[in-house]
Amino acid sequence: MGNFEFDGQKYKSASGHQKEWGTRIVAELSFTGAEAILDLGCGDGVLTKLLADLVPEGKVLGIDASVGMIETAKELEGHNLSFACQDINDMAFSNEFDLIFSNAALHWVRNHERLLHSCHIALKPGGVVRFNFAGDGNCSNFYEVIRKVMDHPTYSEYFKNFEWPWYMPRYNEYEELVKQYEFRESRVWEENADRNFSTKEDMVKWIDQPSIVPFLKFLPEEKKAGFRNEVVRKMIDITTQPDETCFETFRRINVFARK
Ligand SMILES: C[S@@+](CC[C@H](N)C(=O)[O-])C[C@H]1O[C@@H](n2cnc3c(N)ncnc32)[C@H](O)[C@@H]1O
Repeated sequence: MGNFEFDGQKYKSASGHQKEWGTRIVAELSFTGAEAILDLGCGDGVLTKLLADLVPEGKVLGIDASVGMIETAKELEGHNLSFACQDINDMAFSNEFDLIFSNAALHWVRNHERLLHSCHIALKPGGVVRFNFAGDGNCSNFYEVIRKVMDHPTYSEYFKNFEWPWYMPRYNEYEELVKQYEFRESRVWEENADRNFSTKEDMVKWIDQPSIVPFLKFLPEEKKAGFRNEVVRKMIDITTQPDETCFETFRRINVFARK
């Protein structure tokens, strides 16, 4: 996984709700100002920069597997902030970080045994993991629609070897998993972040970047636009509310763990 290409500039303007969640989590953390921080799946780097501003004497590294995202993020690099194009699955840090942060990214990583193991090794003693990613029940409308369109005879042959791109566990299942690693303390909780996109255009931006990206990859060029338009049409059909906003379910898993 981690081999999907995103458009960093488009994501920047389509990611209002990811930024809302991330900004709130950053605001809840406390810093001395000298911490070493790793941001997993940093995307356009906007939240990574927010973290870097809070640790002027520290250092912050954002990693992401998408070249397009890292190109956009690199515009924000500074004296204590750098970005690298790297797959989370391949990370091999040891005893380096006070905080490993990740917002709206880890449902794209399927092997969380490996992830938690590498994070534990990457943390300094006393270091903290703070994740927010999608859990069970997330984007239920999008799931329903994309499955229907994938099953349509026009497209089904292209998805024969398709591997579902996301891991969205139940919070208690994840709680059990975290307990298997030697964290001194840990807390896993779920959050209902269902929301209404204020306009159809806002929802369509979110469909285009990032949600539909892993599905389009499996289609030949000439089928991509038709597939995308059908998903958009069906999503507008089933999510539009009487006040013209569009409703989608957003369920989050929150993780705090201290080494
Ligand atoms: C929805 S974006 C979130 C970006 C940012 N954290 C934010 O909150 O705005 C998810 C990001 O995770 C990255 N990603 C997914 N799988 C990855 C992997 N295996 N390794 C590195 N990055 C990955 C994607 O490239 C994408 O930029």
